[in-house]
Amino acid sequence: MISTLLSQLRHGPDGEPTTPRLAYGADYNPEQWPREVWDEDIRLMREAGVNIVSVGIFSWARIQPARDAWDFGWLDEVMDLLHTGGIGVDLATATASPPPWLSTEHPEILPVTAAGETLWPGGRQHWRPTSPVFREHALRLVRKLAERYADHPALVAWHVSNELGCHNVYDYSDDAARAFRDWLRARYTTIDTLNQAWGTAFWSQRYSDWEQILPPRLAASFPNPTQQLDFKRFSSDALKDHLRVERDLLREITPNVPVTTNFMVMGNTKGMNYADWAAEIDFVSNDHYVLPGSQDRDELSFSANLVSGISAGKPWFLMEHSTSAVNWQPVNVAKRPGDLARDSLLHVAHGADAVCYFQWRQSAAGAEKYHSAMVPHSGADSEVFRAVAELGRTLRTLAPVAGSDRETARVGIVFDWESWWASEQDSHPTDRLDYRQEALDWYSALLDLGARADIVTAQTALDRYDVVITPVLHMIPAALSKELTRYVEQGGHLVSTYFSGVVDENDHIWLGGYPGALRDLLGIRIEEFGPLLDGDTVELDLDGTATGSLWTDRITVTDPEVEVLAHYRSGTYAGRPAVTRRTVGGGSAAYVSTRLGRAGLAGLLPELLAPAGVGSELPDAARGVVELTVRRNADSRYLFLVNRTDETVPLTGLSGELLVGSAGEDGFPVLSPREVAVVSQPAT
Ligand code: GAL
Repeated sequence: MISTLLSQLRHGPDGEPTTPRLAYGADYNPEQWPREVWDEDIRLMREAGVNIVSVGIFSWARIQPARDAWDFGWLDEVMDLLHTGGIGVDLATATASPPPWLSTEHPEILPVTAAGETLWPGGRQHWRPTSPVFREHALRLVRKLAERYADHPALVAWHVSNELGCHNVYDYSDDAARAFRDWLRARYTTIDTLNQAWGTAFWSQRYSDWEQILPPRLAASFPNPTQQLDFKRFSSDALKDHLRVERDLLREITPNVPVTTNFMVMGNTKGMNYADWAAEIDFVSNDHYVLPGSQDRDELSFSANLVSGISAGKPWFLMEHSTSAVNWQPVNVAKRPGDLARDSLLHVAHGADAVCYFQWRQSAAGAEKYHSAMVPHSGADSEVFRAVAELGRTLRTLAPVAGSDRETARVGIVFDWESWWASEQDSHPTDRLDYRQEALDWYSALLDLGARADIVTAQTALDRYDVVITPVLHMIPAALSKELTRYVEQGGHLVSTYFSGVVDENDHIWLGGYPGALRDLLGIRIEEFGPLLDGDTVELDLDGTATGSLWTDRITVTDPEVEVLAHYRSGTYAGRPAVTRRTVGGGSAAYVSTRLGRAGLAGLLPELLAPAGVGSELPDAARGVVELTVRRNADSRYLFLVNRTDETVPLTGLSGELLVGSAGEDGFPVLSPREVAVVSQPAT
């Protein structure tokens, strides 16, 4: 569906249609500016190569200043101006932030925390996903907007709300309690089934009536773990439900306009199960901001890769990222020269067919006035704007890439929201476990070897991968356990880690020795976990030094086909197995029982990948310092080569037509620090 959108954008020098190219633009908030600025906006957008903007995201109070007052005049003019300028509009439904009149008239729309505090207006997104009153008003607004702009030629997509759940995912109000009970009735049908699933025989928690059930509000001790888990599932579903009702109304009024909403696959945003949401919209959109740290661009790559995974390898829309600093980190670091293009192109490398920013013009007032934009406070005569316009030209060069899919890598890393939620709950062997960090470390370690990997969901058909890595796949229902077994029996190579396969979908332990869901497949049995205190480490007898932290396991090998790849050399389990691999016909199932971190994993990975013969596809000098991703269509493969370092890297031996980047004297591409090259090769 994103191709429908791209084909509607006008791309020629005078705004006429030509062949589709990548979309380029930003959130555009003209209501923050006097009318005369709008003309300059359109002129500069054209100069920068902008062909799409998202409008109206926070405009509810402007569009509907009072219950029965509507003001569309300004938006009509903005839509017309953009259309005349050849710029398409991704029109927001404007429901993200309710206006003061609504929260004053109906304070019962305001979210409530676990401790019972109301989240008052004054910021944004102060609404309960389950409030019938909020929904009624939101849908009234959506209907008005959809009916008014249904036939407007600038309209190319609908943008439902904004970052659903960014600030209001967990609401513990009475509305939430009612909706939670309805959700639980639908899931369990009888109260006995719920009691069984929640293990309420423990701590006298048995329910005799649905009305006794509450969200996991602030309690005297640890709330029931399955109640907590179900509340996470419910909260994600409640927002998904909001997405669906807006979408259904939009589809009723404008059946031919694609509908999207911007996800937040980035960092520790974990409340929304986007793998489950993706099917609800016509194309996946994501917002991503670079998080400072040693793995910052690997994290960007990981997130973009995961977005591609939830889009089933189809192109997606980068709805927001930043040209430079943001305003919401403790210290907001400006990007260095080259970062702006490199970051954007890394998203394109992983399937983004649209590159958009928050926001077009940097605000002069409000909480985000220090957040960078395409047009900074200093105006168009600035390094940022010049880099923005330069990227616009680069994206035009990359027109042939539009619509191409991700070329499947040989390694898949499974990322699963349910395991993320379950593995990080309270009252566990350690509260130091960081699910996403473990997955990111495996990813970085693969990049350090020069190998390509796809981040995929637990619902993905695994057979397309020679190696499947499942970091901390903690929650494994019976069906997934069978699927992983089948994958290995049919020749796949599975790599599993500590605290995987320990519980079922109700967060009940698979009994008989850990990891119950994988025990037979791995040919090992764990009697006890040995989490490590902060600062404690264990040595492994791998080639070189491998140091484990966070976790160890007391492992017994139970199958003759298991090879011990490494033992603990120190710690409580010194002399016992630390890394194992069971051979199953042509396949294998390996287990890594401690946290090795990026460097330790890079040392172990060659051994783990060896049975599948997976290695680097890069020229020697580029191995580990360059990230390779590949997009492809029927005719061509597009190799994106991203310099992960601040050094110059020659790509000697890499053949193909250089679409973006420069060649050295030998005719092969050379990457400057942080540069991206794109090479096209015929598809074979
Ligand atoms: C996003 C949001 C935008 C803007 C941006 C700043 O969370 O959708 O409206 O606030 O962050 O980085």
